[in-house]
Amino acid sequence: MSIGRTKLNAHIIRTKHYKRKMHLVVDMKIENINDIDMKKWKKYKEEDIRTDSLWIIGKRDNSGVHSPDYWGNFIPQIPRQAMLRFTKKNEWVLDPFLGSGTTLIECRQLGRNGVGVEIVPGIAENAKKLIEKEKNRYGVRTEVVVGDSVSEKIWKEVDNINKKFQLIIMHPPYWDIIKFSRKKNDLSNAKTLEDFLSRFSMVVKNTYPLLENERFLVLVIGDKYEKSEWIPLGFYCMENVLKTGYKLKSVVVKNMTENRGKRSRHSLWRYRALKGNFYVFRHEYVIFFEKTDDR
Ligand SMILES: C[S@@+](CC[C@H](N)C(=O)[O-])C[C@H]1O[C@@H](n2cnc3c(N)ncnc32)[C@H](O)[C@@H]1O
Repeated sequence: MSIGRTKLNAHIIRTKHYKRKMHLVVDMKIENINDIDMKKWKKYKEEDIRTDSLWIIGKRDNSGVHSPDYWGNFIPQIPRQAMLRFTKKNEWVLDPFLGSGTTLIECRQLGRNGVGVEIVPGIAENAKKLIEKEKNRYGVRTEVVVGDSVSEKIWKEVDNINKKFQLIIMHPPYWDIIKFSRKKNDLSNAKTLEDFLSRFSMVVKNTYPLLENERFLVLVIGDKYEKSEWIPLGFYCMENVLKTGYKLKSVVVKNMTENRGKRSRHSLWRYRALKGNFYVFRHEYVIFFEKTDDR
């Protein structure tokens, strides 16, 4: 090979390397949507700021007023991770299925403003009391709205509190696995899978305009097993969110610790699984979507 050709090859290799580097730089968004200091990124440990798609979380965080007492609440580490990666201090978080208020408690701990909607007045009232007991060292606003997230009406009320949100966290009922109330419009009272999905889609559509562009929706959901069939609620809900126009960014699989009921019936479930040729649920999904108006 002539010297000229060697030089040319070296130039091509350098150009390819440069392009690859540039690609990496372009892939890392320029605008900050969090307070992570990228100059010190190596200092963050995986359990502090997660980047893997498998979350094995040991103990439930019980800091501040967080409590495991509400049957069906998620562990505080889920909204915490979402807020740390996808919001900055003083930004706004929306939770259309507030339950016991985990998201808003976490908002107070991390210095984010938050609005939560809950259909059952008693649950909302308890959540409000609990959230107010959490220290508010950053002086943020945390508002609980009683109402049905499926109906358009409630969103005017939310709009009066705040117009644009930087993160939406949704933790809907896993259809009818836990009945949260007798209310007709409670998603856990949907008569059929189609009905459940159509109500869930309405919530996604109603909240879409409230999310700022290039920001994230996080969906926390598990599947269901009924009449000897696995019903992949997670995948169905994910498909519905995508139909609204969101871009899929990540599907995280998180370990699910046994709830009180299942723990005491562990061997019964194992027996059923062996007999029925299925696997006992040990995971749920945390699915991340980005709103991109250019789609
Ligand atoms: C899985 S729980 C959420 C738990 C919450 N992440 C927590 O940590 O406490 C779902 C909640 O959605 C509420 N819900 C069901 N249908 C609703 C609707 N149409 N509008 C608003 N809230 C609803 C239920 O009452 C229940 O509290």
